[in-house]
Amino acid sequence: MLDIYTLGDEILRERCKPVKVFDSALTSLIDAMFVTMAEANGVGLAAPQIGADIRLFVVDVPEWGKGVFINPQIIETSVELSCAEEGCLSVPGLFHDVERPASVVVQAQDVNGKVFTVKADGLLARAIQHENDHLNGVLFIDRLEQGEQEKMQKAWEKRSRRRRSG
Ligand code: NI
Repeated sequence: MLDIYTLGDEILRERCKPVKVFDSALTSLIDAMFVTMAEANGVGLAAPQIGADIRLFVVDVPEWGKGVFINPQIIETSVELSCAEEGCLSVPGLFHDVERPASVVVQAQDVNGKVFTVKADGLLARAIQHENDHLNGVLFIDRLEQGEQEKMQKAWEKRSRRRRSG
């Protein structure tokens, strides 16, 4: 299992670089990401969360399954929005409703570099948008209104103090 970087770590704020080489090192990294995501009970994990500043994320969404998205691009978003609770393995313990387009079309490359397209709605659409945000240094808390962002930041600091002292 890989270490998961958390809020405050610089790498979570970087704009990640495109993946150019599709080799066995990339496959090994992806395998390790799936193990880490499963251990942490996550439905998605982006490369910067485990310290790699590259454009790649994995998901494991109930009723859809496992997916690897390399150099993803969201090419369509629905006008219809949907609001549901989100959490993040990099902001453990904090959850908040987030409004996002209800469905998206994403184009990405697979482990062999082959381009594919997925039309997603429901939890898959939400996971894809959340993970894609990570590749641009954006966290779900950034999508909240200012007042709610401040509340989350305070709650996070409180949790961090508790972790350090105990
Ligand atoms: Ni996340």
